[in-house]
Amino acid sequence: MWDFFETVRHRHSVRQYQSGIAVEREKLNAILEMACAAPSAGDLQSYKIFVVEAVEKRLALSQAAENQEFIAQAPVCLVFCADHKRSSEMYGERGEKLYAIQDATIAASYAQLAIVAAGMASTWVGHFSEQTVAEIVENEEGSVPVALLSVGYPAELPEQKSRRRMDEMVSYI
Ligand SMILES: Cc1cc2nc3c(=O)[nH]c(=O)nc-3n(C[C@H](O)[C@H](O)[C@H](O)COP(=O)(O)O)c2cc1C
Repeated sequence: MWDFFETVRHRHSVRQYQSGIAVEREKLNAILEMACAAPSAGDLQSYKIFVVEAVEKRLALSQAAENQEFIAQAPVCLVFCADHKRSSEMYGERGEKLYAIQDATIAASYAQLAIVAAGMASTWVGHFSEQTVAEIVENEEGSVPVALLSVGYPAELPEQKSRRRMDEMVSYI
C-alpha cells in the first residue's frame, strides 16, 4: 500500500479504462468507507452517494455529461449529491448553501484518493446536467448532484498536469 504522499502524487484524471475488468466489491466498499470517513459540518454527513454499475445507467450519465464517453466506459460511476435539506435543518442558509456542498465534495475527494490507494483511477466530472443526473439516480428532493467519479482500472497513464506556482495561491501572513 502506498503512503499518503505517493498516493496523492499518483492521482491523475484517467479517461481510458480497461474494459471487462470489474471493480471488486471489497475494494468498492473500502473506497466508500473512506469517503464516509471524511469530515463534515456538525458530523451530519450531508450527502448521498449513488453507486452506478448498470451499463444503461452509466450510458445515461455519460449522455447527461455532454457525452463524456469515459463515464460509460468505466465499470463504476459514483454520484455525489449534496443534501442541502439535511444541513439546513441545523445550520440554516449557511448549511444549505455551503456546508452541504463542502460535505459532499470532501467525501468525493477522499474517495478519489482511496481509489488510487486501491490501485485504480478516476476522473472527477463536474460538467453535467444536474436535473438529468438527479433523474437517473432517482434522487430525492433537497439533495443535488455535485460531482461524478468514474472508477475503474486505468488503460492509460496520463502525463503529470502542471500546477500554478505555489506562491500564487499560498500566502504566509
Ligand atoms: C470541480 C471539477 C470539475 C471537473 N469536471 C471535469 C469534467 O467534466 N470532465 C473531465 O474530463 N474532467 C473534469 N475535471 C478534471 C480536471 O480536468 C482535472 O482534475 C484537471 O485537469 C487536473 O488534472 P489531474 O486531475 O490529472 O491532476 C474536473 C475536476 C474538478 C475538480
